Amino acid sequence: MTDKKNRVFSGMRPSGRLHLGNYLGALRNWVVLQETFQCIYCAVDVHALTDMQGNSTKDIKPNIHEMILDWLAAGINPEKSLVFVQSHVPEVMILHSLLSMVTPLGWLMRVPTFKDKIRQMEETEENVSYGLVGYPVLMTADIILYKANTVPVGEDQLPHIELAREIVRRFNNMYGKIFPEPQSKLTEHPLIRGLDGKQKMSKSLNNHIELAISPEETHKRVRGAFTDPQRLKKDDPGNPLICNVYSLHKYFNPDKLDEIYSRCVVADIGCVEDKEILSDGINEMLREFREKREELASRPKYVSEVLSEGAERARSIAQQTLSEVRERMGISQSI
Ligand code: AMP
Ligand code: TRP
Repeated sequence: MTDKKNRVFSGMRPSGRLHLGNYLGALRNWVVLQETFQCIYCAVDVHALTDMQGNSTKDIKPNIHEMILDWLAAGINPEKSLVFVQSHVPEVMILHSLLSMVTPLGWLMRVPTFKDKIRQMEETEENVSYGLVGYPVLMTADIILYKANTVPVGEDQLPHIELAREIVRRFNNMYGKIFPEPQSKLTEHPLIRGLDGKQKMSKSLNNHIELAISPEETHKRVRGAFTDPQRLKKDDPGNPLICNVYSLHKYFNPDKLDEIYSRCVVADIGCVEDKEILSDGINEMLREFREKREELASRPKYVSEVLSEGAERARSIAQQTLSEVRERMGISQSI
């Protein structure tokens, strides 16, 4: 039964094929939530423009296509959930502009992800755009345009959702309570570490495993993973508690955890065999996903049909909210 009172919204930037971190940290939750709530999932191409510029923007469209195939193969059902591309519902850009009038600049400058980004950009002498500062304001517009109250994301997005709540509170205080305060929703695995074992799994750090690669490529990627750095030879006993491959077994081989632990600490299993077990586990978990993805990819118009229907349905909700906002803010179309 669908709980119509609760609406779920989430988005991902179209950076191409998704990786295990995206799946375990967010997408898996999206699939579960659509059984109970009205869910709206968006490929946020305008957000992508904060770090794709000039010639690289030609990748946005193919990236959207690849990402939507991943969503659908993972179980997002367009008959249950609304799936669309952010810029196809341009009302969000108007709401972004209106929200930017009620958002203090100081709040945006304090967002930790923004501060990290500035630090990186200073190192490479890049310019910080006006749009980048407003990144969380556009996220807020995404969420509240649909009056969503639940936002399933990975841990890295929490500061943005917190800021969205503050913007909503301020807006509601100024213009009357029209928006619910959105709540974030984490999965059981909100932060997946990459193959380097140190940082979060991320495409830009090249420490990731894409969902859509072949079983052989999966073996190859996993073979390159870092394990316990103290364990140099096969006969050295390992310490699973500091080994990233062991932590990945938690997701892919939960029933083998105890056995692997006890064999690793007495050097009865080496890292090579251990990694084979991990990639077998990953391949097994993704078998159905990969088959379905191939089948969907062979239907040439399917993704664009899903997206155009999604945009049409999203747009009718968006237009209602926007006219309500304009009315409250004193700039409705009737004079
Ligand atoms: P991104 O590709 O960075 O736009 O992320 C899309 C979604 O996946 C967001 O909800 C992120 O929080 C989540 N996500 C990305 N990387 C990871 C990771 N390594 N662990 C857990 N969640 C992640
Ligand atoms: N910033 C999010 C990310 O990088 C993507 C995003 C854009 C989003 N708008 C959103 C997530 C609204 C949740 C709700 O992953």
